[in-house]
Amino acid sequence: MNVLVLLGSLRDGSTNRTLAEAAVAHLPEGATATYFNRGADLPHYSEDLDVEGSVPQVATELREAVAAADALIVVTPEYNGTLSSVVKNTIDWASRPREAASIHGKQAIVLAASGAPYGAEWARKDAVRSLQIAGADVVEDTFGIGASYEAFAEGRLVDGEADAALQALVARLGAPVAA
Ligand SMILES: Cc1cc2nc3c(=O)[nH]c(=O)nc-3n(C[C@H](O)[C@H](O)[C@H](O)COP(=O)(O)O)c2cc1C
Repeated sequence: MNVLVLLGSLRDGSTNRTLAEAAVAHLPEGATATYFNRGADLPHYSEDLDVEGSVPQVATELREAVAAADALIVVTPEYNGTLSSVVKNTIDWASRPREAASIHGKQAIVLAASGAPYGAEWARKDAVRSLQIAGADVVEDTFGIGASYEAFAEGRLVDGEADAALQALVARLGAPVAA
């Protein structure tokens, strides 16, 4: 299994990146993870840019990376009550051209870390909806961690129950998504 990680925080020291790494550590042996690290380079989606023959190289790279992946791990902070615009823009680029969208049918799980106590619940909900509308085969159950600045030690979630819940969600990658 080849998993692509789409990360919504651009910040050095991002707790969402730490969460992504904690999730990747739970992938089964033999699975590989690739991080799409060019979210900041992707222009805001515009149909004027998305023209056959002159699609920005970074968007082509994204689409190829999504196409090559068996599954996506989407990790987003919550900004003003919704998912990060970096993740949203990434989904938008991967959702076109509509009839050949690389994200179509791609299995995905959604994770979020927030400094606030609610585990970025709104961001997760909105990310699931956006991924569904884009055509991904997204698992509706998500994983969120609040108080994220204190949640990790040595790249792992300190709370064993939370880590088990993360592991259980990651284990659903590769299994059919329940209707
Ligand atoms: C512009 C902005 C808006 C934010 N809005 C929310 C919010 O609506 N809900 C929330 O839980 N945290 C909010 N936060 C706090 C983020 O959860 C916190 O910055 C988090 O650590 C970001 O993830 P990172 O550590 O991966 O960068 C906001 C932060 C910023 C910069």
